[in-house]
Amino acid sequence: CGIVGYIGARQAVEVIVDGLTRLEYRGYDSAGVAVNTGGEIIIQKKKGRLLLLEENLKENPIKGNMGIGHTRWATHGEPSDENSHPHSNESCSIAVVHNGIIENYLEIKRELQEKGVVFKSETDTEVISHLIDSYYDGDLLDALYKTLKRIRGAYALGVIHKNQPDVLIAARKDSPLVIGVGEGENFIASDIPALLKYTKNVYLLEDGDVAVLTKNSVEIFDLKKNKISKNLTEITWDLESATKGGYPHFMLKEIHEQPKGIQETILRRLDADGLVRFDDIRLSKEDLAEIDKIYIVACGTAYHAGLVGKKAIEKMARIKVDVEIASEFRYDNPFIDSKTLVIIVSQSGETLDTLAALREAKRKGARTLAITNVMGSSIAREAEHVIYTWAGPEIAVASTKAYTTQIACLFMLALDMGYKRGVLDLAAYREILEKLKGIPEKIKAVLKNDLQVQKIAGKIKDAAHGFYIGRGMDYSIAVEGSLKMKEISYVHTEAFPSGELKHGTIALIEDGTPVIALATQQSLFEKSISNMKEVKARGAYVIGVTLEGNELIEEVADDVLYIPKVDDMFAGLVGVVYLQLLAYHVSVMKGLDVDKPRNLAKSVTVE
Ligand code: G6P
Repeated sequence: CGIVGYIGARQAVEVIVDGLTRLEYRGYDSAGVAVNTGGEIIIQKKKGRLLLLEENLKENPIKGNMGIGHTRWATHGEPSDENSHPHSNESCSIAVVHNGIIENYLEIKRELQEKGVVFKSETDTEVISHLIDSYYDGDLLDALYKTLKRIRGAYALGVIHKNQPDVLIAARKDSPLVIGVGEGENFIASDIPALLKYTKNVYLLEDGDVAVLTKNSVEIFDLKKNKISKNLTEITWDLESATKGGYPHFMLKEIHEQPKGIQETILRRLDADGLVRFDDIRLSKEDLAEIDKIYIVACGTAYHAGLVGKKAIEKMARIKVDVEIASEFRYDNPFIDSKTLVIIVSQSGETLDTLAALREAKRKGARTLAITNVMGSSIAREAEHVIYTWAGPEIAVASTKAYTTQIACLFMLALDMGYKRGVLDLAAYREILEKLKGIPEKIKAVLKNDLQVQKIAGKIKDAAHGFYIGRGMDYSIAVEGSLKMKEISYVHTEAFPSGELKHGTIALIEDGTPVIALATQQSLFEKSISNMKEVKARGAYVIGVTLEGNELIEEVADDVLYIPKVDDMFAGLVGVVYLQLLAYHVSVMKGLDVDKPRNLAKSVTVE
């Protein structure tokens, strides 16, 4: 979910709605605002996209200079007008917006209902507004502290009271929240892009922080209500990099930003001798000698980047790597001790399952290293060490440039480890690094071939299901290609190691079933061709992805997407761009909402 709050001299609704449009990637099941109109709180909320709320607000404007707003990704209670935020108490003296989950809400709800409180929604959040109401005796901050003592779980909160039109209160635990500091006005938001139009100065709240905003001041307190001082952070990127810049969709813009993002990610880590520098990360030769096990832990697309990272680290540094899904890892009692390195991969740095896995790894004594795209995010702050991806803000729900920059980081890490562990000598190290540096140019060549991808998309867009197959590194890429197609085009696809398909799933291949066959690994090329023949013989419509020079593939594939010649290790990183484009075009042709696919959210800050 996304939260925005404003207090100052402008019309609050304008600032809040504008901010929410930049947070819609966090959820778009419903949206709402609450404004203090000077002694009264007026709420408007609506199921569906923010646009519907905006239309309503045009018909029934709300005037006032302070308020809060919310865009929702439903957890407790279906998307509906009633379950939308802000939530309120019976007399509507209080309004609350919340991101997170209150775990003990049922218990509190029952207790309040026994006292006669009537609930309007099925949400966990509504208990907060009633609790605050029950504690309020003229001091909103005090009532909030009493409420926070009662609730268990994760929250980023924005709270207002009709009798305190000059105060906006915010609180954070396990869900992101930033405070924007302006002149004569202040803001709260779940993420920085919502504030960039108004200010570049922010306080990054930490767990347990409570902030009291007036139009001229921001005071921050800890959980025990002690006042604390915090440094202002100045944001260096601008609104332009968080807008579409001429592209029809964020996703297409972000696909095209990959060469730049990968180049930036690599260059920022090179020293004067052109070698990878990880001085700030405690992974010296001696440290590495002590590490006997590596876990890569992540969710979604970041998990898929981890699969590629495993192959790279095992090959270049010869250390065993396990890749784990964060929500499973933390309950699996993983084999962790001080000799374990846990690499946490997360674009947002806020995914709750991933954050919880990081905390579990730390608790068990592991060394932790985060790869993330967001400076100052929870994961960046809590991990022992951080390597940043320099993808810039990623807005489309389907991750593209974050994924490829994460892979670039993992390659550099593998290279550095391999060299320090003596698996690679300096010459081999330099040779591989040069090849990695050449990847952005190869991706540019793939991007130029977009028209061919569009044509292929036209041929498969009506398929009900399809398959992605590949061997070795190609399989690691295939799973990401399949996820892209599922999440934005709603075509059910599955990825398989090419050799495994015949052990059952091949039964699903019928006339015209699309099979996207990755054959970028020169060492496995002939075997991949045999697997393609197997599906072709059963009627599949085969789309091959391979290197220039492998024209032999045309004998078995109906269409072929060629990538420039590149080392086996990096071919997938180039080839995956075709898979991103293919999913993108199918989605566009089906008239779907590419950047905001149904049921999803970009940043999932609930378990
Ligand atoms: C959500 C998004 C995915 C993303 C995953 C992990 O499910 O829809 O695209 O890969 O979260 O996000 P993270 O920010 O941790 O990389």
